Amino acid sequence: MRERFRVVGGAHLVGEVAVVGAKNSALKLMAVALLAVGRTTLTNVPAIADVTIMAELLRRLGVGVDYDPAAGVVVLDVPERIGHRADYELVRALRASISVLGPLVARVGEADVAVPGGDAIGSRGLDLHAAGLEALGAEVHVTHGYLVATAPGGLHGADIRLDFPSVGATENILTAAVLARGTTTIDNVAKEPEIIDIAEMLVSMGARLEGAGTSRITVHGVEALTPTEHAVVSDRIAAGTWAFAAATTRGDIEVVGGVAEHLRAPLGALEEAGCHVEVTARGFRVSAVDRRPRAFDVATLPYPGFPTDLQPFALSYNAVADGSAMVTENLFEARFRTVQELARLGADAQIDGHHVMTHGVPMLSGAPVESSDIRSGAALVIAGLVAEGDTLVSGVHHIDRGYPRFEQALRALGADVTREPDDEPPFE
Ligand code: EPU
Repeated sequence: MRERFRVVGGAHLVGEVAVVGAKNSALKLMAVALLAVGRTTLTNVPAIADVTIMAELLRRLGVGVDYDPAAGVVVLDVPERIGHRADYELVRALRASISVLGPLVARVGEADVAVPGGDAIGSRGLDLHAAGLEALGAEVHVTHGYLVATAPGGLHGADIRLDFPSVGATENILTAAVLARGTTTIDNVAKEPEIIDIAEMLVSMGARLEGAGTSRITVHGVEALTPTEHAVVSDRIAAGTWAFAAATTRGDIEVVGGVAEHLRAPLGALEEAGCHVEVTARGFRVSAVDRRPRAFDVATLPYPGFPTDLQPFALSYNAVADGSAMVTENLFEARFRTVQELARLGADAQIDGHHVMTHGVPMLSGAPVESSDIRSGAALVIAGLVAEGDTLVSGVHHIDRGYPRFEQALRALGADVTREPDDEPPFE
């Protein structure tokens, strides 16, 4: 059943909200567990639909998966013999499925992973993943919609340089190199906290590597890894979402479990724009009570730059902030679907190539809008909170992929947001 959120405008979000483990780490760590025979336990796992899909994918590979969303725990029982195929049906539902590629080639010597295809935020290639695995000695080709990688004789160390610090390619090359013979250096890697999280889990499994969080990772391959227990790193994008929610609604939110250090660029920008940002004992706090913060320019960049995943929230914020500003998207070519929906809410925003120019208006005007991905959906809900009247946000299943019980968290902060059946046919 399709659902939508009914968002009543005119809210100032006040209170505290908790963030748990990062979606984009938890999913990868589940794939990392494939590298060791035995029981691996992940804690601080978010209660989101994507984890259920990843669990199903791993079950089809022969892994026993016990997921307790309420407790935030996933226990993975990895047998000696596992499969090597990730079906299109699951990969198309969950792009992060491609993170099984590296672990499968390393463990089984073979991986058949469906090519995800385009999605609502641009066509994302796999060329860097493939080139990295080839450098490690795998043969890689695409056949019948599947990326097939084989390394019957095992992988060997190599010196690899990524043309672009891709998060996914860094992960797949790293998780393959840990079981390769000899030493691998990977240059120009992604430096996201989620990469450090994977590296820490790998080290606790017995991997030998250094440099995660810098531009160069060095891996000394080992024969085998052992299962472990690991807590997923805090979700910086969820935490950043609440920071923007506080600023946009001129509220005051303490983000419990949020790590300000992982959000230097966005929190620094909010502070400069007139918001109050403070690190607290339990996380951080953002407030903009009784003032209209200034609009600010944003250019998305790989970490530690401004995250592309927070770009839609910067658009909702700039739509009602004081002044004009430009948002530049440097990572994904088609990540501006939020703009046309914000325009329906009365935002003054124009797209010019990979830039969006906004001129802030004091208040938006409620209307039905459609989410196209996790972040645009959540950003539209926040926009609805600063719109006069009701805003109906369709495509709630997108939001559920990234935010555990989003409407409940909003209600606890004083918003009037309800989930209801959506009878309108989807408009594609
Ligand atoms: N790219 C290539 N070739 C490759 C790999 C990437 O051209 O082989 C390009 C992509 O087309 C894109 C850019 O490099 O333009 C960045 O892609 P990257 O590989 O860094 O991103 P990703 O691993 O596919 C992850 C997150 C995204 C997040 C990006 C950037 C997961 C599951 N996804 O994607 O998160 O936007 O990093 O930080 O970890 C989300 O959570 O909503 C989400 C989309």
